[in-house]
Amino acid sequence: MSTVKLQALNEADVMPEPIAQFERWLAEAKATSLAEPTAMALATVGANGRPSLRMVLFKGLHNGGFCFYTNYGSRKGGELTAHPYAALTFWWDILERQVRIEGRVERVPKALSDRYFHSRPRGSQIGAYTSRQSEPLPDRAALDQRLAETERQFAGAEVPLPEWWGGFRVVPETMEFWQGRPNRVHDRLLYRQTDSAWTIERLQP
Ligand SMILES: Cc1cc2nc3c(=O)[nH]c(=O)nc-3n(C[C@H](O)[C@H](O)[C@H](O)COP(=O)(O)O)c2cc1C
Repeated sequence: MSTVKLQALNEADVMPEPIAQFERWLAEAKATSLAEPTAMALATVGANGRPSLRMVLFKGLHNGGFCFYTNYGSRKGGELTAHPYAALTFWWDILERQVRIEGRVERVPKALSDRYFHSRPRGSQIGAYTSRQSEPLPDRAALDQRLAETERQFAGAEVPLPEWWGGFRVVPETMEFWQGRPNRVHDRLLYRQTDSAWTIERLQP
């Protein structure tokens, strides 16, 4: 594992816009040996007001929002459609850095989902087309059989973008940058969107 010198997080050094600050930190995370620097936890709210949480992969920014791709009919897809707010957390352990994002959720344009879907390996396209994500399945063999059926259905042809699959973007209202510091006296800077600009506030660790 590479050793990284931890830096202080100071108001004077951060970017005035949190997305620019995020891009700087993500580039630094990608430069380490971290296996999945784009992995983020996604929290949604169910109809009962209870949270649910799972990992997804960050796939870029679109119209100021953090994009990920999934099955719109999955548990998360249903929860986001009914309650379009989410929280995201990145954790880059080597750097002792955490980024928290909260905001409103929107679907990305179909053309963007289509482009991303067809940039994936064919096996992933077949998998996404076949899986009714989050629904129960009798056993693994049933899934393998359905995958083989999808392979046959699209033999020699392009797999179309499933209408139940695509991207969401989380448009941040707040973003917090957390830098680990000695003795657990960490640095926390919270960006909050006001009418025209972002404010930056330091929080106690
Ligand atoms: C590192 C990692 C990355 C993942 N990325 C995605 C992703 O980008 N999209 C996705 O739908 N599921 C992804 N998953 C699977 C989800 O965590 C989850 O199991 C799945 O989306 C079903 O969640 P749901 O039932 O809450 O909708 C990933 C899992 C891990 C561990």
